[in-house]
Amino acid sequence: MSRQHAPSRRSFLQTALAAGGVAAWPLLGCGPAAKAPTHAALGLDVSGANSLAAHAANANLLFGFAVDTAALRDNAAYRNTVKQQCSIVVAENAMKWSALRPAADKYSFADADALVAFTDENHIKLRGHTLCWHGGLPAWFDAAMTPDSARGQLLEHIRTVAGRYAGRMHSWDVVNEPILMADGRPDGLRTSPWLRLAGTDYIEAAFRAARDADPTALLTLNEFGVEGQNREDAEKRAALLLLLRRLKQRNVPIDAVGIQSHLRARTLYGYGAGLQSLLRSCNEMDLQVFLTELDVDDRDLSQNIDARDSGVAAQYASYLQTTLASPAVRAVLTWGVDDAHTWLNTAQPRGDKQPQRSLLFDERLRPTQAFAAVRDAFDARSSIPKH
Ligand code: XIL
Repeated sequence: MSRQHAPSRRSFLQTALAAGGVAAWPLLGCGPAAKAPTHAALGLDVSGANSLAAHAANANLLFGFAVDTAALRDNAAYRNTVKQQCSIVVAENAMKWSALRPAADKYSFADADALVAFTDENHIKLRGHTLCWHGGLPAWFDAAMTPDSARGQLLEHIRTVAGRYAGRMHSWDVVNEPILMADGRPDGLRTSPWLRLAGTDYIEAAFRAARDADPTALLTLNEFGVEGQNREDAEKRAALLLLLRRLKQRNVPIDAVGIQSHLRARTLYGYGAGLQSLLRSCNEMDLQVFLTELDVDDRDLSQNIDARDSGVAAQYASYLQTTLASPAVRAVLTWGVDDAHTWLNTAQPRGDKQPQRSLLFDERLRPTQAFAAVRDAFDARSSIPKH
């Protein structure tokens, strides 16, 4: 793994300030106290060299979205935004078991194949999500899966799916969300159906099968709830670190950690030293880090659109300032393209029933203040001298 730059936090902040980057965000007139321009009035040029992909590349980063394959097929404006902004994408749902496995003995690859063709054609990298997860399982799963069959089924699924796209994937989320402290195991592992049915070493087995099936994809363990300074996140972070160390010690083929990064516009605790220490540990273990599902839940903010937009933008700015200081971070993906397609409208609806304004493009695909905040954060990182 090449380490292009390893700035101290202080030098990062100084450079960011000097460059008028994220740390200078309030000066752009978008801080909570300032009268923020509406997103429509931002009038940003976001094409070509002004795109997020281009600014990310200057910062040694990939940038992209989780994409909805139906929208990609049917909605030209959505498709153009993806082509314009992304150097990498991930399927929001099309590569989950629920999409790929209509029946225990059947695979359905139409949407996944279409996405692979789209990314190939447009020279966009592709992350696979996800080979093994307790969620996104098909309806037949519970009745059909037994302790005798589960391990074989899991490994066969991995061989079939990762094998089909071998050589064409940037990375795979091999195991998603394996930790749940509330389940009470000393190792912090979630007692997911896979752990119960396929064995407590299912994580290791899944990674080994994935490496055999696709030797070039970066094999990733993806997790949420490890970002904050609060006690719950700190405990989960410690369990994640323990798991990563154990996998490394056992020579399990793992290349990267995905930090989901589902943020909340108003947190009581913020993001800081704990997360930075996790990033340092990943770097020491030669694990790349991808911010895989970045978005900002604005449910705690009042109805005022400008206030919501600047609150959301400020959260993106502060989170990326914390995380992009680490050279381990190589990719940033938001969970969705635009506010018309955010899962938060269903998963975390606002009390006032207004749609969430959580992504970098609004419901009409216009760049938001959050877009500007993210681009500034990339620029602040690219101004760090490389060595
Ligand atoms: C979500 C999708 O966004 C929804 O469309 C779907 O209904 C449920 O799954 N963490 C993950 C993602 O790893 O796969 C989840 O995606 C969001 C939380």
